[in-house]
Amino acid sequence: MPPTNLVLVGFGNVNRALARMLLAKEADLREQFGLEFRLTGVITRAHGLAIASEGLPVADLVHSAEAGGRLDEFGRTKPLAQLDQNLRLAQAQVMVEATPLNPRTGEPALTHVLTALEAGVHVVTANKGPLVYGYKTLRDLAAQNHLHFLFESTVLDGAPLFSLFRDALPVARLLGFRGVLNSTTNFILGELEAGKDFADAVRAAQALGIAETDPSVDVDGWDAAVKVAALATVLMDSPILPSQVRREGIGGVTPAMAREARGAGRPIKLVCQARRASGGSLEASVGPESIPWGDPLASVSGTSSIIHFETDMLEGLTLIEHNPGPKTTAYGLLADLIHVTRTPLA
Ligand SMILES: NC(=O)c1ccc[n+]([C@@H]2O[C@H](COP(=O)([O-])OP(=O)(O)OC[C@H]3O[C@@H](n4cnc5c(N)ncnc54)[C@H](OP(=O)(O)O)[C@@H]3O)[C@@H](O)[C@H]2O)c1
Repeated sequence: MPPTNLVLVGFGNVNRALARMLLAKEADLREQFGLEFRLTGVITRAHGLAIASEGLPVADLVHSAEAGGRLDEFGRTKPLAQLDQNLRLAQAQVMVEATPLNPRTGEPALTHVLTALEAGVHVVTANKGPLVYGYKTLRDLAAQNHLHFLFESTVLDGAPLFSLFRDALPVARLLGFRGVLNSTTNFILGELEAGKDFADAVRAAQALGIAETDPSVDVDGWDAAVKVAALATVLMDSPILPSQVRREGIGGVTPAMAREARGAGRPIKLVCQARRASGGSLEASVGPESIPWGDPLASVSGTSSIIHFETDMLEGLTLIEHNPGPKTTAYGLLADLIHVTRTPLA
């Protein structure tokens, strides 16, 4: 099979981890699937962009980006102003979107995804914005243009969640879910329990590369609300906006409260949930709750996440993801990339 040309939009924690993974898994991809990915474009906001349809030097690009350098020197083709022009110059077949989440508009990722699908390029995204602000439009546009639009990494990082429902739970109806879906707040709550003050706990989360670019997106519960909206939209066929999810962040939790709750055996967790009410409407919320020890949600600590699904086929199904980070997220992107290249669309 000829190499598949990739363009990465955003080259932060996640897409750099993907670039490293493409190198580390090069032999496995070739031997197990006969696949080769060729990086032909990398686009950032303030650190320049590099385009070369014959392929970019991946290791050098990562090294330079990690040192805070610009990317322009690596390109062989002069980039143009518009994304669709650069996708064409790069002869892109798949675009990987990993720019920061704007929980209130979904931009700029929404426009990036729309542009790529209109240009005939498959899309894989780690950014939840396009899901909650444009899922139906993007899904229909992708289908009309015989393209993939995949987003495994948007919720629960690299753990199989959307592909689980797509491939392993045929015709199952999701009735509701409940979980701890935001690693940053779970980590911060643990740091508060250990006696750190709030600002130090946020800084520690940023150092791990798990916090959103703007950490208030995590702390105020926005990231979690976007995840609830994404799951309800895609898996429950109930499109809701993040602003329609009842939301409370963890800003009001003090170190004393966190320690006391933990000491009483009822740690505080930022709980995400949605469930179809008897009348058919959807009730969705995000907020801190003190969870008793017997509840599996109490057992996830640090950056780990958990989700419990209730379906009409399997009464209860729980996934726990231990210690995710940018590498885990990159793995979800890689799984999507493999699916794109191995699953032709009619
Ligand atoms: N980190 C995780 O573990 C994780 C887990 C699941 C999902 N995600 C999602 O993955 C996405 C990326 O996260 P990250 O941690 O990699 O973020 P990050 O480290 O802040 O990197 C963001 C990248 O996007 C670039 N960018 C910003 N605006 C852009 C624009 N308009 N056009 C092109 N590039 C642009 C930035 O360029 P400059 O540096 O030049 O500004 C930077 O390279 C987010 O949507 C996040 O929600 C992350």
